[in-house]
Amino acid sequence: MVKILKMANTADFFSGSAYDSIFLEKTPASMSNEDFERLAYTIKQRYGLNLEGKKSMVESRLCFYIVDRGFHSFSEYLETVYENGGDEMANIINRLTTNYTYFMREQEHMRHFIDVFLPYAEKHKTDKELCIWSAGCSFGNEAYNFAMCAEEYFQSRGADWDKRILATDISQNAILAAKHGMFAEAALKDLPAAWVEKYFTGKGGIYTVKPEIRSQVVFKYHNLMDPISFKKKFDLIICRNVMIYFDQKTKSELIKRFYDATNEGGYLYIGHAEAVPEDCPYVREKTAVYRKITQAGGVQKHG
Ligand SMILES: C[S@@+](CC[C@H](N)C(=O)[O-])C[C@H]1O[C@@H](n2cnc3c(N)ncnc32)[C@H](O)[C@@H]1O
Repeated sequence: MVKILKMANTADFFSGSAYDSIFLEKTPASMSNEDFERLAYTIKQRYGLNLEGKKSMVESRLCFYIVDRGFHSFSEYLETVYENGGDEMANIINRLTTNYTYFMREQEHMRHFIDVFLPYAEKHKTDKELCIWSAGCSFGNEAYNFAMCAEEYFQSRGADWDKRILATDISQNAILAAKHGMFAEAALKDLPAAWVEKYFTGKGGIYTVKPEIRSQVVFKYHNLMDPISFKKKFDLIICRNVMIYFDQKTKSELIKRFYDATNEGGYLYIGHAEAVPEDCPYVREKTAVYRKITQAGGVQKHG
């Protein structure tokens, strides 16, 4: 039960009694097991997120929000969510997703991208269109980072290539922030200084990705539990540190959807701490790098 703060008058506040009551009455809210189980079930069904054993995390991420919204208990709030659906569920998702990300994360993938993937694509993609998807893109660091790598690789040869990267997430807040392409100076600490100079403009400790790179990334809402219905298949799907939140069955079904949405010879990057399910149809090329190679497709392993 969430306790709502009583309005305190100024005298109470300065005497300390209101101060005590704020901290005593704004006790950590608790959710009944039934409420938690129903919410966890709904979120797993719709978004794949496995909240098992994370009741305290859910309570702490939602309790101040529901107090601010004027609800008296989790039950009252959740009834509204189930009745009204859409927008309020999006608010929950904004709060329950873990959007941790940073530039130059898992650089082995960037090496592979520049040394193996792009030379492969340059040789085989006669339509000069790279189809790359950052699935679970969070604040966009990953997609912008790969766009910078593509820029470094192609240099002046890149002009006649369509190098746009699709970047998707279920967190509307993350997508909105990503579209702005603005980052605190500290977020750029792992990027080479020359890249910061070349690909960002900075003012007052806030750095903005330059339009040349921003225009290479298209951000969209997409729930990875939904069917993949983008117009084209992908040459590279980057889905790193997302499937760790899914159970085996959800992961296995998602990997199959990814596989169907990958062009023959195309690649899948997953997080280095992640494992693919046993029934994964991709061929493992190296740690965290997988490839779609079918007998019928006839792509040579290192072609
Ligand atoms: C930890 S971040 C990883 C960000 C980035 N890929 C990286 O490795 O730095 C995980 C992201 O996956 C997103 N996510 C979780 N479940 C998702 C789903 N069902 N559909 C789309 N995105 C999802 C979260 O919103 C979050 O932004």
